[in-house]
Amino acid sequence: MDILRFTTAGHVDDGKSTLIGRLLYDSKAIHQDQYQSIERASLGQGDGAVNLALLTDGLRAEREQGITIDVAYRYFSTSRRKFIIADTPGHIQYTRNMVTGASTAELAIILIDARNGVLQQSRRHGFIASLLQIPHVLVAINKMDLVEYSEEAYRKIVGDYREFAERLDIDDVVFIPISALKGDNVVEPSKRMNWYRGPTILHHLETVKVGAGRNVVDFRFPVQYVIRPHQRFRGYAGRVASGSIAPGEDIVALPSGQESRIRSIVCMEQDVQRARAGDSVVITVEDDIDIGRGDMIVRRRNKPLVTRSIDADICWMSEEPMNTNRRWILQHTTRNVQAAVGNVIYRMNIDTLHRETADALGLNDIGRIEFELADPLFVDAYRVNRETGSFILIDPDANNTVAAGMIRGAAQHVPPVGRTPAMERLVSPGVVWDELFIAREARERRQGHQAAVLWMTGLSGSGKSTIARALEKRLFEQGVRTMSIDGDYVRHGLCGDLSFSEADRAENIRRVGETARLCFEQGNITLCALVSPRRRDRAYPRHVIPEDRFFEVHVDCDLETCKRRDPKGLYKKALDNEIRNFTGISAPYEPPEYPELRLQTDALSVQECVDRIVAMLSAQGIIPSTA
Ligand code: ADX
Repeated sequence: MDILRFTTAGHVDDGKSTLIGRLLYDSKAIHQDQYQSIERASLGQGDGAVNLALLTDGLRAEREQGITIDVAYRYFSTSRRKFIIADTPGHIQYTRNMVTGASTAELAIILIDARNGVLQQSRRHGFIASLLQIPHVLVAINKMDLVEYSEEAYRKIVGDYREFAERLDIDDVVFIPISALKGDNVVEPSKRMNWYRGPTILHHLETVKVGAGRNVVDFRFPVQYVIRPHQRFRGYAGRVASGSIAPGEDIVALPSGQESRIRSIVCMEQDVQRARAGDSVVITVEDDIDIGRGDMIVRRRNKPLVTRSIDADICWMSEEPMNTNRRWILQHTTRNVQAAVGNVIYRMNIDTLHRETADALGLNDIGRIEFELADPLFVDAYRVNRETGSFILIDPDANNTVAAGMIRGAAQHVPPVGRTPAMERLVSPGVVWDELFIAREARERRQGHQAAVLWMTGLSGSGKSTIARALEKRLFEQGVRTMSIDGDYVRHGLCGDLSFSEADRAENIRRVGETARLCFEQGNITLCALVSPRRRDRAYPRHVIPEDRFFEVHVDCDLETCKRRDPKGLYKKALDNEIRNFTGISAPYEPPEYPELRLQTDALSVQECVDRIVAMLSAQGIIPSTA
């Protein structure tokens, strides 16, 4: 029978405990005597209904002790599946709870109170789920009984949340209207919401696809301790973080770099022929090499990144704001190193998904930080390996966890968001920047709309220029001042000296970014349509334009569709090797992680795309609303 690990996130009052109680009770996962004791306990509480929340709350004495993380696990099973609920106690610190409880979860239940609609914390939970790469999100819209089981109320929340979730990197979001208290759609289908035809919570939990999250390829064995009962035996104990290994295979120990071969693997006092992710084992190797606690055994031809700096997404969990001048203990697998903040790249605004300038992070903030480390770590990107891609930060004085982090890679010394004047920009010697004679604000007041930069990125043939043209026409008709900068145009003349090498593309983006800035400062809504395949390159224009005026639009189209469209015949040439470094064929395309807007052009018409951009611009106060 397979196992689904899931986590629940919601405010204390959203009904998390009741939902879990209801799941346990209605699926007959609790004993009759447990039920009776809850019944008795509920008697004193007024309305006569059984308080299912007692089932979970009664078991909740967990609190953070030292550096252990406060997550309680609860198990139950049905005839179809076993379930492990990482229950994150319902006190105020949502972020921390979710991060620590959810890191191995494959599904997150996000509870929304139907009366309140989508609140910031619901968005925060969705954002964290995407950051943690939890493959499935189930949005349970609870307390439907308190909104008269209204379909309209449900649809409104679904619409609001979907709009937000579309911008996140989550593949699967499902909505279910429930009343945990009355039992509607938790285990039994509701009779009071005939308009809803989807699954119940339990049915969804029982049938959702699991098992995709584990890394079974890259063997990583962080050594927990060395076992040395007598001179002739030396074993390394630990838990296989990912991948698998068998006796006879070649290995290398990090950081020493010494090589050897696996001699034996012992699991629960028995020799085994293979150790797999999750197994706790003792490994012996052929040669006498130098391995200690915190070292890592890996395959010779599949090594993690060995680095003394990391670039990571961080959830700050301490009441005390991050002090960027101090040092922490960074705990990664079985290894502890000293870490200091090198650079705060940005703080994420959870409501708008904008990256904001920040000096540090406060309680529950999420941001991107570069750390410098006193000793090397052996890491993988969280995206490919949750185990070796995550860490926690510990305050060595108070001995508590202050943050959890997801590694992107080695630090690239990305310039912080919004620090335009300080960031290194090319300036010709002896040239001074005079403030514009007519300030942008004056132009904006006069013309009745704000300036902005729309950066459209996407594969060749995805529809960037087509949408930009149609959009420009629409804006023109509304009397909006626009400028258009199209990759094909700038590569005639302005950037005609540039090829499609990585370096030249970066330079192309830089020049266009700077041109866009000049147009922007003169009050225009500036439309840039460039393939701009690299995230790092796209960071440039984002950094030179104020944060609330820059809109990255991912013109998202399936590669096969682009190939079929092939408006300029370039895909054919690229496939025939007549063009080199062609994006999507022989050069990479990195989709934006958090674009301000994503347009699926294989599903939407040009007009629909234009409508969405116009709607976004008016919602953000850039242009007056046309309604
Ligand atoms: S970018 O990568 O530097 O942003 P840009 O948008 O300026 O590219 O130019 C892309 C245009 O050049 C595409 O519309 C396409 O028609 C054409 N092109 C020619 N060679 C390539 C190539 N190797 N990769 C991508 N686009 C190419």
